[in-house]
Amino acid sequence: MEVVILADATQIGGVAADAISILLSRKPDAVLGLATGSSPLAIYDELVARCDAGLITFGQARGFTLDEYVGLPADHAERYRNVIDRVFVSRVDFAPGAVQGPDGLAADIPAACAAYENAIRAVGGVDLQILGIGTDGHIGFNEPGSSLASRTRIKTLTRQTRVDNARFFGDDVESVPTHCLTQGLATIMEARHLILVATGRSKSEAVHHLVEGAVSALWPATILQHHPHVTVLLDDAAARRLQLVDYYRETYLAKPDWQGI
Ligand code: GLP
Repeated sequence: MEVVILADATQIGGVAADAISILLSRKPDAVLGLATGSSPLAIYDELVARCDAGLITFGQARGFTLDEYVGLPADHAERYRNVIDRVFVSRVDFAPGAVQGPDGLAADIPAACAAYENAIRAVGGVDLQILGIGTDGHIGFNEPGSSLASRTRIKTLTRQTRVDNARFFGDDVESVPTHCLTQGLATIMEARHLILVATGRSKSEAVHHLVEGAVSALWPATILQHHPHVTVLLDDAAARRLQLVDYYRETYLAKPDWQGI
């Protein structure tokens, strides 16, 4: 696990966008794993700027989102399918239908989850997965207690996550759906490169467990310690509880320019 501590979200966006740009130049039909939430927004903004400038294209790329609320109407602004379109997909040049998400309105939820797993598998898996992290250590919507071997499925959201996400629902926690569909931890672990972004003090406990804690279903993101290629991009506030913070900083500073994340 590589831990990179940067000054702010803009720098984080630049470093992650560099990795995605390199991937796209090597593999124009790359499969990207897209996350919602505020953490990846600076990445998306930087990718949009590079696409506008003609430096990169998503014309042959595909995308899969991590998760979706169950039961939000198709036109609801906070439905993750609509969120990712608004913040990223519609702003670049993906081909129509190139980005998919789990179907939170499916009549047969287990079948929809299995179909989603098959769709990811059919394109050869995710090359690069962007991740945020919840204050309770969830990735995607894999809440504490999630099986470390889980696949795409329905989950009940914790009260903490619903409180955290109430800001998107007029600060009314009761308006936040109670259930979601999410790629499982084992699904996420199959992506070839994982880039997790966390900023702000509220994430520092989850980041501490993610990087330096014991692997446990209680802090689901800790499963990433078993992945061979994870990059954790943090600001100072999110890194404040890390024991080996000086080591992470020195290691990154000493890295040659040509060696990406
Ligand atoms: C949400 C999403 C996650 C996201 C997390 C953190 O509940 N399901 O994919 O990583 O919460 O969100 P944010 O980046 O806004 O803090």
